[in-house]
This record gives sequence, structure tokens and C-alpha cells, in this order.
Amino acid sequence: MTASNTARQLVVEGVCVVHGDVTALRSVDLTLTPGSFTAVHGPSGSGKSTLLWALAAATRLSNGTVTLGGVALTDRDRAARLGVALIPQGNGLVGTLTANENLFVAATSSGLSPGEAAERSDEALRALGLEDVGEHLIEELSGGQQQRVAIARALASRPSVLLADEPTSELDSATRERVIAALRRESDRGAIVVMTTNDPVAAQQADVVLTIHEGTLAHEM
Ligand SMILES: Nc1ncnc2c1ncn2[C@@H]1O[C@H](COP(=O)(O)OP(=O)(O)O)[C@@H](O)[C@H]1O
Ligand SMILES: [Mg+2]
Repeated sequence: MTASNTARQLVVEGVCVVHGDVTALRSVDLTLTPGSFTAVHGPSGSGKSTLLWALAAATRLSNGTVTLGGVALTDRDRAARLGVALIPQGNGLVGTLTANENLFVAATSSGLSPGEAAERSDEALRALGLEDVGEHLIEELSGGQQQRVAIARALASRPSVLLADEPTSELDSATRERVIAALRRESDRGAIVVMTTNDPVAAQQADVVLTIHEGTLAHEM
């Protein structure tokens, strides 16, 4: 591992998240390195989404810290500025805009020039096999296509940390392979990639599989 890889680690220490009387995460410790592709596998309600939201600084921690390259991720805006992209399960796209527009708006608001934003948006749609749907409104697309547009939108900003919440849950097996290949390319380019899934077949395609059960994280292999 190079010094710069160590310097840009995402480090989770003693993280607990409590929702009312439900403890969703129990003292999670985790270190993720640039270039790694990790699956978090567990049943519904086990805490997968809560863990991703904690990594993205999108939920309040009851205890513990999340740091990226030694910088505490104290709020979502700061995490986003440091390149932490979250793809929520509900996709978070604007239904009344086209796929291209959704990507372009996100890419320009991440600081790219309009020319670069258009180029990266095209490239990201192609990576997910969506070159023919760029001009379609999101609300005209199938659930699986929308899920892939949400992934493409995150790719277009070249995140340093890519967090995908159940990105393959609505996909047939061929499309699932395509999404996993796109996530793997992101880790190959040096991003820290984490996907949650309750599908053991999808989980096994990551380099590291972590299991989560009632808010407790364990290494499976
Ligand atoms: N906003 C919330 N308010 C109350 N309870 C929540 C909230 N979000 C999640 N939970 C609870 O926390 C636990 C973990 O949920 P979640 O992280 O969504 O699991 P998963 O993504 O694995 O299905 C569950 O018991 C769920 O009911
Ligand atoms: Mg979930």
C-alpha cells in the first residue's frame, strides 16, 4: 500500500447510530482504502443503509467518528466537497428532467465546467449502457434504468468515495453484471467503493464482503 493510499483512507471508529429506541449501528469500526471494492451484505433491517449514510455524513452519529484522509466528515456538505458520493436506494433523481439533465446539473454543481460536465455525463451514461436514454425523462424510464442513471450521475463527478445502496436490487442478472463492472472500474481508478446488498451473488463479486446483522458488522472472508 502506498503512502498516499494510507493518507486517503476512510476510517470509521466506534460509530453508533440510534433511531428513537432502535440501535441501527453498534460500535462499528472499519478502515477502507483507495482502490478497494467492498460489499456490505445483510438482511433487510440489519443496518446497511444506516451504515452508508453514516459513511456519507448524511445521518447523525450517536457516537464515534468517520474521517477521510484524517479529515472528520462532520456534515453532508463537507463530505460531498471531499468527493463522497451517496447513491440512495430511492435513486434521488428529478423525475421531470431528462437523464442527461440530471447528470449535467449534478456535474456542474460539483464544480465542472459545462463542457467537462457534458463530456463526463456522456461517458458515465455509456459506462452503464444508457447512451440511448439520455434524452428521456426519468419518469419515462423503468426502475432498473433509473437505478443505473443514479449510478451514472455519481460516476460523472469522479468521486473519491462511492457509496451505493442496493444498486443491483431491481436489475436482471445481465444488467447487474454491468453495474458491478462499472463500480469495479471506479475502484480500479482509485476510488473507495462500497455497495450494500441482500443478494449473496452480488456480494461475492466485491473484493471484500462484510456482513451486518442487527447493526453489528463482521468480516466474512
Ligand atoms: N429514520 C428511522 N427512524 C427509525 N428507525 C429507523 C430509521 N431508519 C432506519 N431505522 C431502523 O434501523 C434499523 C436499520 O435500518 P436500515 O439501516 O434501513 O437497514 P437495511 O438498510 O439493512 O434494511 C431497522 O430496524 C430500521 O427499522
Ligand atoms: Mg436499506
